[in-house]
Amino acid sequence: MPAPVRRPRRFFLCFALLALALAPAALAGNGGLAPPDPASPSASHIRDIYWLILAMTGAIFLLVVVTLVVFLVRYRSRGRPREVEGAQVRGHTNLELAWTAGPVVLLAVIAGFVFWKVSDLSATASSGAKVEITIDAHQYYWEFVYPNGAVSVDHLRLPLDKPVRLTIVSHDVDHSWWVPALGGKVDAIPGRTNHLTLRPTKLGTFRGQCAEFCGLQHAAMLSQVEVMPVSDYQAWVQHRGSLAGNIELGKETFVGVCAKCHGLAGQGDIGPNIASNPLLGERAGISTIIREGTGTMPAVGQDWNKAQLDDTIAYLQQHFHQGGSSGG
Ligand code: CUA
Repeated sequence: MPAPVRRPRRFFLCFALLALALAPAALAGNGGLAPPDPASPSASHIRDIYWLILAMTGAIFLLVVVTLVVFLVRYRSRGRPREVEGAQVRGHTNLELAWTAGPVVLLAVIAGFVFWKVSDLSATASSGAKVEITIDAHQYYWEFVYPNGAVSVDHLRLPLDKPVRLTIVSHDVDHSWWVPALGGKVDAIPGRTNHLTLRPTKLGTFRGQCAEFCGLQHAAMLSQVEVMPVSDYQAWVQHRGSLAGNIELGKETFVGVCAKCHGLAGQGDIGPNIASNPLLGERAGISTIIREGTGTMPAVGQDWNKAQLDDTIAYLQQHFHQGGSSGG
């Protein structure tokens, strides 16, 4: 009969297997456990705080685990019968003072560092006139309104190196605006107006995700922020501002708002099929449903301007009604 596997070896084997299984998850995507590369001064402050806290808690974790293992080995029973008590250890004043004072000092360092960095978050963005943009959070999309009234859905454009003041609101349930590369998380709460000031310092497109569970399609409530050179940004906002009667906004709205529940081909998903719905031919009926919602469908278009409503209906009719079979 083979000798039974000894317990320490089995423990070690389990530990190694667990470490192997968790390693790919830790290393996957954006550098494993690290936050994404900061694209604004506030994001870089938040990253500093993350690293300091990770370093300190990591050191404490190692200290506790190593001490635990040393004690397990050093004070093991060594064949002593179970009912016999081991050697009794009495207090150690200096050690007790150290483990009381140590955590106090560590917490004071963390708190001091966090207050220092956080107080700087909006200061870094406060110089100069700010670009004012409103973020209106909805089940399950982000609507951005620019200073000239231009509108975009799920895709925010920002000018490089200009301070931006975001006004964040919601008209249905709680959502949370979060683009990790650009800074902190700010909740969108019905009946409240919140603000986030930031200054993007890197060109590129950064991903965001609604960070408050807001309903069935919460996971689909993604956003992207495109930081552009100032002249490109201005040209885009001007172009989009004169977009009435243009199908571009209609398409963006369909993809960001309707398709999340009804499918990109209108084929139906958690919402019913709309591609073959005869209602698409009736302008009045479809406007009412978009404005007021129906059944479990939220009032997605309750505060769209007329141009956005017109463009969206035009896109729907062009693709699914007049287009006949194209939508399936
Ligand atoms: Cu909006 Cu989750």
